[in-house]
Amino acid sequence: MEFHASNTPLLDWSGDALIIGLSEAALPLSTTLAELNSRLSGLLQELIDEVEFTGKDGTSAISRVGTGATIRKLGIVGLGAAEAITPDTLRRAAAAAARLAKKEKCASLGLSLPLVHNDPALTAQALAEGASLALHHDNRFKSDGKASKKASKVTLDHIHLLGLPDQKASLQTAQAICDGVILARELVSAPANVVTPEVLAQTAQDIATAHGLEVEILDREQCEALGMGAYLGVARASDLPPKFIHLTYKPAGTPTRKLAIVGKGLTFDSGGLNIKGAGSGIEMMKIDMGGAAATLGAAKAIAQIQPSVEVHFISAAAENMISGNAMRPGDILTASNGKTIEVNNTDAEGRLTLADALVFAEKLGVDAIVDLATLTGACIIALGDDIAGIFSENDQLAGAIATAATAAGEKFWRLPMEEKYFDGLKSIVADMKNTGPRPGGSITAALFLKQFVTSTPWVHLDVAGPVWTEKESGYNNPGGTGFGVRTLVQWVLAA
Ligand code: BES
Ligand code: MN
Ligand code: ZN
Repeated sequence: MEFHASNTPLLDWSGDALIIGLSEAALPLSTTLAELNSRLSGLLQELIDEVEFTGKDGTSAISRVGTGATIRKLGIVGLGAAEAITPDTLRRAAAAAARLAKKEKCASLGLSLPLVHNDPALTAQALAEGASLALHHDNRFKSDGKASKKASKVTLDHIHLLGLPDQKASLQTAQAICDGVILARELVSAPANVVTPEVLAQTAQDIATAHGLEVEILDREQCEALGMGAYLGVARASDLPPKFIHLTYKPAGTPTRKLAIVGKGLTFDSGGLNIKGAGSGIEMMKIDMGGAAATLGAAKAIAQIQPSVEVHFISAAAENMISGNAMRPGDILTASNGKTIEVNNTDAEGRLTLADALVFAEKLGVDAIVDLATLTGACIIALGDDIAGIFSENDQLAGAIATAATAAGEKFWRLPMEEKYFDGLKSIVADMKNTGPRPGGSITAALFLKQFVTSTPWVHLDVAGPVWTEKESGYNNPGGTGFGVRTLVQWVLAA
């Protein structure tokens, strides 16, 4: 897929499908669109009338253009109220347009949409992101995956963003971001018998090799030497060895800031001896490395964009299994900061792995730490499938993440770090238990993590819901969504 931004007016473009974004304010047709309509003998107005199109967000239509015209299909996508158009409106509109053009077997698409925030670079980036992400389909595990691709003789391979001056830099940024999102999607969608801790480590290694990053993979013995008893307790029962991943992007000059991104990397979460029962969604627990996937996806994007910020990408990757060597409910583990944990539930394993990863991140002397984790089912109960939780005692950092997320088109909602609830984690025998009562389960999880960060500004993102989707929606297709990558990249670029 190639994107071209060019000042070509939509009246002069020729190709397979011309698709126009129309806000409610664009109707009735006037100026250029009225001119297009008359050149096409009234076809645009006919299409609008036929489907009773009002410009509503999420609506679209497409029609055949008569022979002899310079375009084969004419499409329209609704943008809603003109004053409410955001970059994400454009991402979703470009996604709808790309899906239509693909369905109609068009090899080239001319996209004409209004500028967002009067910014051609931002507009081009949003359009390219929306179209690329919508067109990404993961057929790796279908036996006819490659065959079905060949079956369609036409592939949509040129998208022209009309009425925009050349946007080389922002199109490259979009490409880098989509590379990262697609990597994260594919890591999440792949099953646990394919994406193992070793494969996550190899993925980090591959990013390092391809883009010149530093990488360090610690094995079980090296983690033991660092005292990572919480992480290793989780990894103990699996036949797959744990891999502690530390990938570092360093800018050419002196970095303006040093940041750490930590992702939960459970390639499968059986629950351990507190095994997940029927109806618990155990068969979906390959997604429990969604935080690590976003971390590696962000690394792939940032390595290509090359901002002047140093970024450490960390994941304590492991598999939570059962065996004669499994940690037992009631066992006491010692984390690398010396704190002791009574494991009253082996299914609250993510926080145990994150504990040692956070201690490791803070030792790097970074200015801020963000962790992403498919940490609690309770967060899905609170916010549903599409919204992630933000937990932080640092208003500035929480605000920076929220701002980045809005620009990126990812949904987050801040939840409180209610200190009083830590009472629920009090242990008679150890410094704390790993699980509190069911109410406020996402909050006690965040308060548990807090015990492993001393003074570095830190934000915890509970992404249990949005890393996976069952339905096509906007620019997402069913499967892994790559959630978090765009927010992380946006945050790093703004830092
Ligand atoms: N990986 C799960 C959380 C999860 C649930 C992610 C559903 C995605 C979808 C986590 O390790 C877990 O099992 N959490 C428990 C915590 C409980 C034992 C305190 C949960 O949410 O039930
Ligand atoms: Mn669990
Ligand atoms: Zn888990």
